[in-house]
Amino acid sequence: MAERLVALRGLLGSLRMRTALAAALAVAMTLVLACGGLVWAVHRSLIDGLVTTATDTANEVTSLAAAGAVPDPPPAQPGVVVQVVDASGHVVAATSSIARRHPVASVRPALGTSQVIATPPLVPGDDADLTVAMSVQSPTAGLVTVYAVTSVQGAERSTHLLMVLLAAVTGILLVVAAAVGWVLVGRALQPVEAIRAEVADITARDLHRRVPEPPQLDEIGRLAATMNETLARLEKATDRQRQFVSDASHELRSPLAALLAQVEVARAHPESADWSAVADAVVVEGDRLSRIVDDLLLMARADEGQLEPRRDPVDLDELVLAEGRRLRAQRRVAVDLHGVGAGRVTGDADQLSRMVRNLADNAERHARGTVSFGVSRINGHVQLVVADDGPGIPPDQRERVFERFARLDTARDRPTGGTGLGLAIVGEIVATHGGTIHVADSPGGARFEVELPVED
Ligand SMILES: Nc1ncnc2c1ncn2[C@@H]1O[C@H](COP(=O)(O)OP(=O)(O)OP(=O)(O)O)[C@@H](O)[C@H]1O
Ligand SMILES: [Mg+2]
Repeated sequence: MAERLVALRGLLGSLRMRTALAAALAVAMTLVLACGGLVWAVHRSLIDGLVTTATDTANEVTSLAAAGAVPDPPPAQPGVVVQVVDASGHVVAATSSIARRHPVASVRPALGTSQVIATPPLVPGDDADLTVAMSVQSPTAGLVTVYAVTSVQGAERSTHLLMVLLAAVTGILLVVAAAVGWVLVGRALQPVEAIRAEVADITARDLHRRVPEPPQLDEIGRLAATMNETLARLEKATDRQRQFVSDASHELRSPLAALLAQVEVARAHPESADWSAVADAVVVEGDRLSRIVDDLLLMARADEGQLEPRRDPVDLDELVLAEGRRLRAQRRVAVDLHGVGAGRVTGDADQLSRMVRNLADNAERHARGTVSFGVSRINGHVQLVVADDGPGIPPDQRERVFERFARLDTARDRPTGGTGLGLAIVGEIVATHGGTIHVADSPGGARFEVELPVED
């Protein structure tokens, strides 16, 4: 019982059933209104016809009575029974013996007026009759009243029959409307069901699957297309994440392996081990590991949209001058700071200084002899330039270097090669600060140009 109730509730809750019922209800309401109006109009016109016939007959008899003696039997149109009653209530003329027995009514309209009244049926068992009454002064019988009686039985029967017919047609149309609604909605919802089944089947492992797209570009077609776009984005994001995890593990493995190898060799030959050198190596590799982990955490935070920068006024020129001094102190390259002018932006001093440091580290690593910095205001932006005189970056690689773990082949072989996250981090920081970065053409070496909105 309870199961049946649940099934019924499910059926009623289905869009298909609700639409079919709504279609039937709409048809029912329209038909009931239209048929009701039709029945009323037909009934009205039948009754009007009866009244007209009875009135014509009453008119004819009253004219004859006014002109002379009351004719007996009086003339009458087919279906009309006439009765003439004098002032004392006696029937003085009638068209049939049944009408001769007693007056059909006691109503006596004023002279020159007529009245339509319902009177008891002349033939027992009928509905009430419809009677037109008129009074007239007859030269021979005095004041008489003419009653022209018609039966409404025929009109009532016709109306009843019409009602039964219309009710039957309405019933049939209701069933047809519900069935058509059921079939059409079922057909329209077929693709939705197919999409639902496919989505229910897709798991994180098979994100390459797509939902079936119906050929028409209607609401359902657009739903399928949007769903497939979402699946494609999801697949891309998942792939990216998988790649990131695999690259990250790979990057962490090499320093970890180097570190373990040194310690294990020293432990195997403790007598010949140079422990101070081992400690140095552990510190260097540990340092490198710690930097990689920091970078990975930063990238993960950027992915989660948590790299929300502070919005402080920051003098970019001061960050650049500090970075230039740091490079100078390393004494490996000459540092040109002539191009550094005032440039204040809004942002996060720590993140911006990280951005400058990553660019400076790259320039220092690749420069032959000189790294130059520039800060200037251009068209409402503050432009930062970091350039070097190294091998430069080929034009077809200038987008790729901003990807995570991207290293150009030449750099991969270098012992000093990094993780390939530096520029990806720079890209994230620039983006969260509403700026842009690109590698510009340069006569020799690489030239990075960053544009940030000027302080607001
Ligand atoms: N100034 C430059 N001149 C030539 N090539 C560069 C320069 N800066 C970056 N590149 C190339 O772009 C690659 C990506 O740079 P990125 O800073 O992202 O990584 P990385 O320096 O190798 O490692 P990390 O910065 O994470 O330690 C580098 O490996 C290098 O091949
Ligand atoms: Mg770098």
